[in-house]
Amino acid sequence: NWTMEHFIDVQIEQIRKTVGDKKVLCALSGGVDSSVVAVLIHRAIGDQLTCMFVDHGLLRKGEAESVMETFGQQFNMNVIKIDARKRFLDKLAGVTDPEQKRKIIGNEFIYVFDDEQAKLEGIDFLAQGTLYTDIIESGTTTAETIKSHHNVGGLPEDMEFELIEPLKTLFKDEVRELGTALGIPDEIVWRQPFPGPGLGIRIIGDITEEKLEIVRESDYILREEIKNAGLDREIWQYFTVLTNIRSVGVMGDARTYDYTVGIRAVNSIDGMTADWARIPWDVLEKISRRIVNEVPHVNRVVYDITSKPPATIEWE
Ligand code: XMP
Repeated sequence: NWTMEHFIDVQIEQIRKTVGDKKVLCALSGGVDSSVVAVLIHRAIGDQLTCMFVDHGLLRKGEAESVMETFGQQFNMNVIKIDARKRFLDKLAGVTDPEQKRKIIGNEFIYVFDDEQAKLEGIDFLAQGTLYTDIIESGTTTAETIKSHHNVGGLPEDMEFELIEPLKTLFKDEVRELGTALGIPDEIVWRQPFPGPGLGIRIIGDITEEKLEIVRESDYILREEIKNAGLDREIWQYFTVLTNIRSVGVMGDARTYDYTVGIRAVNSIDGMTADWARIPWDVLEKISRRIVNEVPHVNRVVYDITSKPPATIEWE
């Protein structure tokens, strides 16, 4: 595509001119926007770019590994992985309020990033995946008054970096097109939306390592079966929720008293409104059976058939 190739050339030239022989830091989340920014800048300045990937322990199964593999190995970029899992879990211990969780996760991300960037020498620029829509929506969307959507891009204002935001004239679909033109794999370019607070807001009630394991494993099964059914590009967003409910069941000859997992799947354009997805019953049947059989401490699976409004997409 000529237009995208042209855009890439212009951006690369501009990035080189701006950066000179200085160094750039990029917070890589594994999401579409930060991935595209990182690869674009890497193409312009190579090893002058350092990416920082913070593992807050609230990621989906395989996500940290896949980010390191894709960007560290395949693209051969400088990626530092920060294992902050304990830091986040400690801060979140006993916290049940959704907005409190968001605040803690958002703040802790900033503290971790701040601590870690201070260890790096001679960084002058910070790259961010700000899109055109982020700029026009700046601050007060309706969603924001309902849930405080923090993005991993929100960093402290007093950091002495100059910002580089090469995507700020683009819409989401153009970022995807750019990502493909840059050779970024489809799994990342077409990744479903994933909230900054991650699995932390998909566990109702307090967050523990055991509950994270349940939501991570059940979500992995859901994703696998949605993909097997060829629905992964059809459904806008799909995930599991660990409800804080335990109920009675029977497995073999024994009575169980275990957790209920909820399946959430929606179709939407922009996340502001959403319709619950009509997943075929045989696919749901397979997902349900696998989750109960393969994930310890789960004996019941329910399907969320509420649209937004009146419900929201996430349960918290
Ligand atoms: P809701 O639950 O408000 O979600 O209907 C709409 C879309 O936003 C995502 N979401 C978030 N994204 N930080 C984010 O970066 C958040 O705190 C957050 N809460 C919800 C949600 O996954 C859906 O795509």
